Amino acid sequence: MCGIIGYVGRRPAIPILVEGLRRLEYRGYDSAGVALVAPNDLQVTKTAGRISVLEQMVDFSASQTTGLGHTRWATHGAPNDINAHPHTDSSGRIAVIHNGIIENDRALRTFLERDGVTFKSETDTEVIAQLIGRFYKGDLERAVRQALHEVSGTYGMAVVCADEPEVIVAARKGSPLIIGVNHDEHLLASDAAAILAHTKHVVYVGDGEIARITPTEYRLTTLDAIPVTKEIEEVEWSLEQIELAGYEHFMLKEICEQPTSLADCLRGRIDLREGAVHLGGLVDCTRELTRAKHLILSGCGTAWHAALVGEYMFEELTRIPTEVEYASEFRYRNPIIDDGTVVISVSQSGETADTLAAQTEAKQRGALTLGVVNVVGSTLARQTDAGVYLHVGPEIGVASTKAFTGQLTVLALMACYLGRRKHMSPGAATEFITALSRIPKQINGIIEQADDLKVVAQRYADRENWLYLGRGYNYPTALEGALKLKEISYIHAEGLPAAEMKHGPIALITEGMPVVVIATEGIQYDKIVSNISEVRSRGGSVIAIATEGNKEIAKMAEHVVYVPETLEPLQPLLTVIPLQLIAYHTAVLRGCNVDKPRNLAKSVTVE
Ligand code: F6R
Repeated sequence: MCGIIGYVGRRPAIPILVEGLRRLEYRGYDSAGVALVAPNDLQVTKTAGRISVLEQMVDFSASQTTGLGHTRWATHGAPNDINAHPHTDSSGRIAVIHNGIIENDRALRTFLERDGVTFKSETDTEVIAQLIGRFYKGDLERAVRQALHEVSGTYGMAVVCADEPEVIVAARKGSPLIIGVNHDEHLLASDAAAILAHTKHVVYVGDGEIARITPTEYRLTTLDAIPVTKEIEEVEWSLEQIELAGYEHFMLKEICEQPTSLADCLRGRIDLREGAVHLGGLVDCTRELTRAKHLILSGCGTAWHAALVGEYMFEELTRIPTEVEYASEFRYRNPIIDDGTVVISVSQSGETADTLAAQTEAKQRGALTLGVVNVVGSTLARQTDAGVYLHVGPEIGVASTKAFTGQLTVLALMACYLGRRKHMSPGAATEFITALSRIPKQINGIIEQADDLKVVAQRYADRENWLYLGRGYNYPTALEGALKLKEISYIHAEGLPAAEMKHGPIALITEGMPVVVIATEGIQYDKIVSNISEVRSRGGSVIAIATEGNKEIAKMAEHVVYVPETLEPLQPLLTVIPLQLIAYHTAVLRGCNVDKPRNLAKSVTVE
């Protein structure tokens, strides 16, 4: 969603701001803008549309050394030039960029209008700019503090003022902000990707904190002006990881990275000789976790699908009753949290608004809260009691791929870690983690078949309705396959537990309709074969994902994609790979913007 970049230093700001905005493009946006400050001078340039349009409008030789840049994903008001950020106060001397939503925007707007303010835009952000302008008496930080006392809602925001040309004031409540620290310059961003080209040294602005940043100094205080001391931390991601490295799209790069990203995820965490899993992030809560009577996994979208697989794994390996909740539903439905309930929040970004709110709700009700998160230092990672990072590297493509397999891997590790402390025998644990350790290499083998999957995509790319069927562990994989296809190629696709088809959706099957069936070896294999027959007898074209060596299936399906054999709980790690590739090639063939699909944002930081 919206992105923030700020610079205050000795170099011209504009190239740094525009490059930062480019790095934020993947998050999804509909307009962009910059503000440049010099003594007694504030210049704002903004436009609806892509950053390439903004690039044509700005002067790359501009000498100002302080500035802000923003990519907007519309919430209040249409995505047009006027509603694009930065927004200024009536004096035109103060400019604000803002991620989040101001909830009392209407009331504040009415109040300010009665006071004689004329608004230019429909945005809630302009309300903040006008409020700051009203309070400004020569001290920007103080004015921001006063304004924020009037505001309710969420924000990650940055403010500059023509009267204080070497100062950026930033504030955060519920929307991430980091300060990049360099010699004689500081950067500000909502996402480390925007500043990695300049520094890996960062300070995370905490919730309810205000930062005052100059070229040589940053200072953090609470909303009530109490000083906050923070360590400088190092971002573990590199610049190369956020670049395309010769791939046509980030999504393809991230699909192909999965053997490496999962090897990274597993590194140092499994001991094949001892049959043990080591998860440093859980050490302090292992006693409490082992006593858990009830596990709740929560997340949104792809993370929710990973959680569904996790549910099956936890129940099978630990025998602890486990359920999965959409974070957006959990937060509002008065959930039952008893003594012994552990809530595990799954999120790539660690910034998804609903997932954060569900975790907060669970914590307030007394649950032990754990995070399964990719982005180190993200809000979820900080506000959970403990957790396990994915360590799969930055995911830039909007459609989640390597984060999904990372989530499955971490959930498998956690289930085994806990299972060993419950009922799982050392032998079973060794078998499980040995199979897990083979997954990266097995994925490599599947990726090598990418050309066959392109053929499948070519054959069906013009079909507007697809079905994805799976059973057991592969039912969530079917949901994930359907989600991948719909989000990047705009094809209507439905994922189902295969047995449910007879209860209604079978009516959808028409001659030649592509039906992807995950038919790998396992206890439900015979059942899924019957489902394939049901599809075929109604004219559906079956694309089967089957276990290597299964010759029989080729007689029943139009196309067969083979995956290597593994334990059933780990099958989704393999079966999802062809589904990701089919979705990718289909979207490319349909001319869709794979990495920036319409209407979607990489991390959904508003409700
Ligand atoms: C789908 C996708 C989304 C996210 C969802 C949760 O490809 O990326 O469905 O999985 O928005 O995001 P995180 O994991 O960042 O909480």
